[in-house]
Amino acid sequence: MKAMLLFLLFVAATTQSQAELENATCKACHPLIYQEYRNSMHSKASIYKDAVHKAVWDLHPAKAKGNYNCAKCHTPSDHRLMKGKSKLTDNAIQQNEPISCQQCHKIQSIEKHARANKNILTNKKKYFFSADKEKKGKKVEFKEESSFFGLFTKTIGSPYHDIDYSNENFYNGNACMGCHSHKENGKGFAVCDLEVKQGDSKETCISCHMPKVQGPLANQKEHGVHAYHGANIHSSDMKALSKYIKFALEKDGSGFTVTIKNEATHTLFPQPLRLAQLRVTIERSGNSIPLKTDSFARVIGSNGKASMPWLADTIISDNSIKALETRKIKYDTMLQEGDQVVVTFGYYIVNPKAAKKLNIADPEATRFIVLKEERFTF
Ligand code: HEC
Ligand code: HEC
Ligand code: HEC
Ligand code: HEC
Ligand code: HEC
Repeated sequence: MKAMLLFLLFVAATTQSQAELENATCKACHPLIYQEYRNSMHSKASIYKDAVHKAVWDLHPAKAKGNYNCAKCHTPSDHRLMKGKSKLTDNAIQQNEPISCQQCHKIQSIEKHARANKNILTNKKKYFFSADKEKKGKKVEFKEESSFFGLFTKTIGSPYHDIDYSNENFYNGNACMGCHSHKENGKGFAVCDLEVKQGDSKETCISCHMPKVQGPLANQKEHGVHAYHGANIHSSDMKALSKYIKFALEKDGSGFTVTIKNEATHTLFPQPLRLAQLRVTIERSGNSIPLKTDSFARVIGSNGKASMPWLADTIISDNSIKALETRKIKYDTMLQEGDQVVVTFGYYIVNPKAAKKLNIADPEATRFIVLKEERFTF
């Protein structure tokens, strides 16, 4: 009897720590996806894990008022904070799962608003949406038959939860748009807008950013693939995305033209802090000749000057590369036989000028990250 009591106490203790970190249950059966997620920006979206987000928050006027209104997108899993029952504090949720598995998998629909869209989550317990073309439309119910006061259970379907394969948002990528579409500041000005255009593209947010990779989606399955859950431009594992940026080089009478084709269905690097650049070098008889560097950014501000996002009310300049756009850049250097032209497209997470103002010294945030490099020989 004493052993039984101890056992029950143990069960109570573990369920309590699981209640605190809701991903802990998912981790047990989905270890591969969980590991990838740990490296994603979705698990590092809080000020305690993202130095860039923290630097902006530290200067933001809402901080003085103690109103962390970034939570709805950056840390929606901190339920006490979301309900106004606690202030922003460094806790296990902020550290490990600011956007938990459930914050995506419970998205039933997206409400559109000018200020920012809103995720509407299902309130059904242990009920998750997912996508699988072969099972589209189906709902897999999890049935549990318990016996011996619930200590032993027999399960059917996924051994833990229901799965609903009928939510269109998980097929067309809309599930991402509650947080990623756009955001206005207090002045009703869009500080950030992905400006999504689908065009003829067959790709979606999910097919590009969560491509299928090797490894089973759950322990209970021996083989197979799963959707990659590690989306993070701060680490270089986004290299797979470079195939959606295409270069071409054409010689003409006065030099040559480099073409960048953006196959992404959104503006490239629309975040106000980012700076994308095209760098071109000619390698000629053992010498390296750097040509001009072109920068691409959407600069926002007010009174004709660039400003912090919360003060901005106009676009100062915008030459960012839009969804499905092909951009041509002209160079006035004549190419010679034997020349090799090295074309490099990349970006800074934080524009070095802004990094100074924000006191960001993190080398990851301020280094030039190469997204694509290609060599053309003449
Ligand atoms: C006890 C094991 C177990 C736990 C715990 C568990 N899952 Fe699952 N889950 C499974 C299995 C097994 C499947 C595959 C079911 C199938 O293919 O019929 C699955 C399937 C899924 C799918 C759909 C996969 C598809 O086919 O598209 C999602 C989404 C999912 N789980 C999310 C979660 C989340 C989120 C959690 C944590 C809150 C979680 N799971 C916890 C075992 C588990
Ligand atoms: C409507 C949802 C939403 C709200 C509200 C929101 N953000 Fe974000 N934020 C995002 C998304 C989505 C990204 C990632 C976008 C990207 O990388 O292009 C992001 C990224 C950022 C980044 C860049 C982070 C990096 O690592 O480069 C900063 C800085 C940032 N947000 C600051 C804030 C601050 C400060 C607030 C609150 C005052 C806030 N955000 C509120 C959705 C939101
Ligand atoms: C609950 C809100 C939310 C949802 C839903 C969401 N995201 Fe995010 N996402 C964010 C935030 C916030 C960040 C930025 C975190 C940061 O940099 O601090 C982010 C970061 C990212 C990044 C990495 C950007 C970077 O700076 O490294 C990618 C890629 C991304 N999300 C893709 C997706 C895709 C694809 C979906 C849909 C399957 C999705 N997100 C759904 C909030 C969300
Ligand atoms: C055809 C492929 C493709 C599609 C479709 C696509 N993206 Fe991207 N996305 C890219 C590429 C390429 C980049 C730039 C590579 C990088 O960030 O390292 C990118 C970058 C991003 C970033 C990081 C931007 C930054 O500055 O932090 C976010 C966030 C993102 N995409 C979200 C989305 C969302 C949400 C959707 C759906 C509307 C989507 N993407 C659709 C290819 C795609
Ligand atoms: C940013 C939103 C987001 C987060 C966070 C997220 N998922 Fe997913 N997940 C998705 C989407 C979208 C799909 C559907 C991908 C597809 O198959 O097209 C998916 C697919 C899955 C699948 C099925 C795999 C497959 O290949 O279809 C499982 C299992 C799963 N997720 C579990 C988890 C677990 C466990 C976590 C937390 C560790 C998690 N997810 C966090 C958006 C998310």
